[in-house]
Amino acid sequence: DPVFSTENRYFMTQSERYEGAVKKVIHLRKKMEQLLYLNDHSAVNFRNRSLRALEDVAFGTHSSIFIPTIMNLGTDKQIAKWVPPARNYSIIGTYAQTELAHGTYLRGLETTATFDPSAQEFILNMLEISSMKWWPGDLGRSATHALVLAQLYTEEKCYGMHPFIVQIRSLHDHSPLPGVVVGDIGPKMGLEHVDNGYLLLRNVRIPRENMLSKYSEVSPDGTYVKRGSDRINYFSMIYLRTRIVSVMAATFLSKACVIAIRYSVVQRQSELKPGEPEPKILDYQTQEQKLLPQLATAYALHFVGLSLNAFFNQVYEEIGGKGNFSSLTELRALAAGTKALATDVSTAGVEAVRRACGGHGYSLLSGLPSIYSTLVASCSYEGENTVMLLQTARFLVKSLDRAHSGQSLPASVAYLSVQQSSGCSAKDKVDFLNPYIYIEAYKHRASRVITDAGTKLQSLIQTGIEQHVAWNNTSILLAQAAMVSKTAYFFIVELIQYYTAKFKGCQELRKLLKVNIGVNIRGFSVNSKSPGYVVGVGLTLTVCTHTHSVTLYRKEAVSLVDAFDYSDQQLNSAISSYDGNAYHRLFEWARRAPTNVLVNPAYEKYLKPLLQAAQSKL
Ligand SMILES: Cc1cc2nc3c(=O)[nH]c(=O)nc-3n(C[C@H](O)[C@H](O)[C@H](O)COP(=O)(O)OP(=O)(O)OC[C@H]3O[C@@H](n4cnc5c(N)ncnc54)[C@H](O)[C@@H]3O)c2cc1C
Ligand SMILES: *[C@@H]1O[C@H](CO)[C@@H](O)[C@H](O)[C@H]1NC(C)=O
Ligand SMILES: *[C@@H]1O[C@H](CO)[C@@H](O)[C@H](O)[C@H]1NC(C)=O
Ligand SMILES: *[C@@H]1O[C@H](CO)[C@@H](O)[C@H](O)[C@H]1NC(C)=O
Ligand SMILES: *[C@@H]1O[C@H](CO)[C@@H](O)[C@H](O)[C@H]1NC(C)=O
Repeated sequence: DPVFSTENRYFMTQSERYEGAVKKVIHLRKKMEQLLYLNDHSAVNFRNRSLRALEDVAFGTHSSIFIPTIMNLGTDKQIAKWVPPARNYSIIGTYAQTELAHGTYLRGLETTATFDPSAQEFILNMLEISSMKWWPGDLGRSATHALVLAQLYTEEKCYGMHPFIVQIRSLHDHSPLPGVVVGDIGPKMGLEHVDNGYLLLRNVRIPRENMLSKYSEVSPDGTYVKRGSDRINYFSMIYLRTRIVSVMAATFLSKACVIAIRYSVVQRQSELKPGEPEPKILDYQTQEQKLLPQLATAYALHFVGLSLNAFFNQVYEEIGGKGNFSSLTELRALAAGTKALATDVSTAGVEAVRRACGGHGYSLLSGLPSIYSTLVASCSYEGENTVMLLQTARFLVKSLDRAHSGQSLPASVAYLSVQQSSGCSAKDKVDFLNPYIYIEAYKHRASRVITDAGTKLQSLIQTGIEQHVAWNNTSILLAQAAMVSKTAYFFIVELIQYYTAKFKGCQELRKLLKVNIGVNIRGFSVNSKSPGYVVGVGLTLTVCTHTHSVTLYRKEAVSLVDAFDYSDQQLNSAISSYDGNAYHRLFEWARRAPTNVLVNPAYEKYLKPLLQAAQSKL
């Protein structure tokens, strides 16, 4: 469909990208309706993947945050009122939580919503510049409504952050309503198609019914009423964090690997054996070491995403169906830590493979810079990564306490209550590639790192230091512990289960598993907190394991890349089309650049006078 073409994407301005994205979303809606895809989840996933929806289609915040939040936190009446018009774009919504001064610390938000019983209205106010909403997607130039997160005041008491639906622009001519100042926050590192915006509200009144009130409400007389558990409020956030692992981390890293690996079997450079033809760059050991571990990581993240989603669905059903909240804390910790780990590892991976493409990796036309600039934002949104790791660390430290007092632990941290063996049984580099030896090594490491952090925290507290000082002074160790614990459990144990149980006969996946182990075992040796553990095998051995494991699957690299099944249009990269015709395509695309097609005003204004003056003297 020509409307979905990405042909000139790299030559567009921020405004053109935004306009194109709006055109695509409207057209997409029509197509989905025609094809009866609107309520089909797998069709939606397929569509997102095919269209590079996250990079090219507008209203992501509207559809993946605004609508779901109303569904989760609204009453049936509120859902019936707001969701149908939102679904067909009769209204467009944004999720306005972050302020200029506060993103992470929600109790610090300054926006207020004060109930006025005489008018049965809330009055929304942002009194300081620091309280202005800043960053919400789809706000700058599109939204007619905002889901504003504000401190609720009623009967002169503050009840904390609550969600309010506020109309901000006219439905007739799109002009800001009285008391509303709204605009676009300007150029960003990427995501040019999204109109992230600012919003300032002064004495804006909304009806009492506009506070989303499935779990809490203000009655007509101003009394604050709370219903059931507000723990369910976490759910949208947890859901988005689990989605980021597959939709952002796994997808973006895999695309970058496809581009870089295809290019590395087309490009030849230098001479290895004197007089012989130039080798493909992938046939240099150093290039293999840069690319293949990243490909293994991309596959790993794919499976991590699947298993995290499966766990989410299981917990969601337990809560919704039986009111069983027992796994919510574990899910919350896993989602936070895995989100941080996955976005961190994939972002670093994309940058590594980008550089592995030499100069062409720096050209937008390679497709790699925009993959990076889109992906890197996920390290900050939906929970800044360090903050996420520290959230997981709290869960780990609590689990450790429970283990010490003899209570049972959730599956993902069960290893904390088991006495770990004190010596590694690997004697040869290939021994580490035995998943079971490797898992033992990893559990040993995770439990050691978490115990170290927990012990330091406890001992600081025991010297009489205040809790918060002790926490601050242990937080580097705590964040590391969270990173390692995720690696230990989801990254590896779950993965091994997937690889070996689901794909029994697949040799390529078995090899990939070994590369993953190789990659991790190297990090293990470098950062190990337990020097005694690998005595006898030593650091050199784990480096050998790593090199050995990577070389194992050089021959499968291209088929493993093709197996992701991205079309040329999805990759939109001049250097890595399926036909391998990199140089021609690069030349063809560069020639289309506006800089080559339009007249060059700098010539007329500056160069011509200089050059012509010089000529007269020659
Ligand atoms: C592309 C993009 C889209 C976005 N879309 C939206 C949107 O639609 N709606 C919306 O409301 N917001 C949105 N945001 C905002 C985003 O949610 C916040 O930027 C994010 O939550 C981080 O908050 P912050 O910017 O205040 O960073 P801060 O929290 O100030 O982080 C800065 C540094 O402080 C550190 N830090 C903060 N707290 C702690 C702590 N307790 N312990 C240790 N270190 C700490 C962090 O680790 C970090 O290194 C978006 C942001 C981006 C980049
Ligand atoms: C969208 O839905 C609303 C309410 O459900 C309806 O009133 C409106 O006519 C619909 N608009 C379009 C363009 O379909
Ligand atoms: C509660 O849910 C968890 C999974 O989330 C499950 O393991 C546990 O058995 C359930 N408990 C009850 C009482 O149903
Ligand atoms: C937190 O710890 C760091 C390093 O130990 C210290 O420099 C800083 O002052 C501490 N912060 C607070 C608020 O105590
Ligand atoms: C916290 O750490 C800093 C720097 O490491 C140190 O100077 C300070 O004494 C520590 N404070 C406490 C209370 O341990």
